[in-house]
Amino acid sequence: MSLAGKKIVVIGGTSGIGFARAQQASAAGADVVLASSRQDRVDAATKLLGEPAGGRGLDVADGNAIAAFFEEVGELDRLVHTAGVSLVVKPLADTTPQKARTVSERRFWGAFLASKSAAPRLRDGGSITFSSG
Ligand SMILES: NC(=O)c1ccc[n+]([C@@H]2O[C@H](COP(=O)([O-])OP(=O)(O)OC[C@H]3O[C@@H](n4cnc5c(N)ncnc54)[C@H](OP(=O)(O)O)[C@@H]3O)[C@@H](O)[C@H]2O)c1
Repeated sequence: MSLAGKKIVVIGGTSGIGFARAQQASAAGADVVLASSRQDRVDAATKLLGEPAGGRGLDVADGNAIAAFFEEVGELDRLVHTAGVSLVVKPLADTTPQKARTVSERRFWGAFLASKSAAPRLRDGGSITFSSG
C-alpha cells in the first residue's frame, strides 16, 4: 500500500516496534516524523531511514513539550505511539509511588496527551495506534 503524501508521526520511533513501523511507512513513501526522549537516537534513526524522514527529541512526560511538538508537526495522517520506559515489574512492597508514577506518566499519560494534541490535527481517514503494556 502506498503512503505517498501521508505524514506519519511515530513517538517512540527510535527502536523496536516504533522503528519497525517507521521503516515500513518510509518504504511505502510516507513523510515520517520520529520522536523519542534522546535526540542522539532520533538523529541515528532518521539517518537510517534517510530523507525525507525527520524528527526531534521529545520526553512524553512533559505535557508542554508534547503540545509544542504537535504545533510544529501540524496536520498529520497517522500517530503511532510506542514510547515507554522499561516495565520492571516488582512486588508491590518494593515499588515506590514515585517509580510507579514515572512509568504511568510515560506509558499512560504520555499517550493520552499525545492523542489529545494529535486528534484535532488528523486529516480525514487518519488513525492513532498505541503499543503499550
Ligand atoms: N516488544 C514487544 O514484544 C512488546 C509486546 C507488548 C507490548 N510492548 C510494549 O510496546 C511498547 C514499545 O515496545 P518496544 O519493544 O518497541 O520498546 P522499545 O524498543 O524499548 O522502544 C521504546 C521507545 O520509547 C522511547 N522512549 C522511552 N522513554 C521515552 C520518553 N520519556 N519520551 C519519549 N520516548 C521515549 C524510546 O526511545 P528513547 O530511549 O530514545 O527515548 C524508544 O524509541 C512498550 O510500551 C512495550 O512495553 C512491547
